[in-house]
Amino acid sequence: MCGRVVKKDPVTGVGYPVPFATVLQRRRSVREFILRPLETERVGRLLYASYGVRGHRQVEGQWTYDRPSPSAGGLYPLELYVATQAVKGLPDGVYHYDARAHQLELMGAGLIHPHLADMTIGQEMIRDTNLVIMISAVFQRSMWKYGQRGYRYVWLDAGHLCQNIYLVAVALGLGPVSIGGFFDDEINHLVGLPAREEGVIYLVCVGQPKDAHDGRFHEGVG
Ligand SMILES: Cc1cc2nc3c(=O)[nH]c(=O)nc-3n(C[C@H](O)[C@H](O)[C@H](O)COP(=O)(O)O)c2cc1C
Repeated sequence: MCGRVVKKDPVTGVGYPVPFATVLQRRRSVREFILRPLETERVGRLLYASYGVRGHRQVEGQWTYDRPSPSAGGLYPLELYVATQAVKGLPDGVYHYDARAHQLELMGAGLIHPHLADMTIGQEMIRDTNLVIMISAVFQRSMWKYGQRGYRYVWLDAGHLCQNIYLVAVALGLGPVSIGGFFDDEINHLVGLPAREEGVIYLVCVGQPKDAHDGRFHEGVG
């Protein structure tokens, strides 16, 4: 007698493979959400599969991180800050994602989604999302090596990372929408970033889509 081995999907953790082609096909920006509690496991999977540190490896003789997102020169100038709402077991607040430790570090307690809606020129859908992922750039991490060109690379890195977040969110049955329109200074101040060295350059909201069709992959995780 032998039991059937259930091979879990490595990204979502569900007991069946989530087809990549279908994820790509379903990817879209979602702007209508239902606010309900979200499992911390899904938050962890989203961050790890998008921008986690999987290990180290050598590229062209240099040691660098092994991460899911490409980065010019393996310099990884981007950081993730996450504003949370209704995540089970996690007080609402702003967290820094410490990718090396795969941990969320509390930076400030309290819900900031309403402030973020104001700071994005009234993008009201934010209020119903569980997560607002703020992608920040530490420009010097790229520019010490590449000079002015490093500035360009930072934005290219951000596009790759944002797409990862979109695709992993879809695979997890969640709905993503990126936001480029916001008041930089206000958001940097809210998060507590020293804008000269590091600033928020892109937001990705992630919530639970109102359209149940979008949540189909996720049955079984929780
Ligand atoms: C750089 C960038 C900035 C964006 N800013 C916003 C935004 O501020 N608000 C919003 O609702 N969508 C924003 N979007 C999402 C686009 O509107 C969306 O990707 C586009 O309409 C195509 O739709 P799709 O993502 O569903 O395919 C942004 C997308 C990109 C790439």
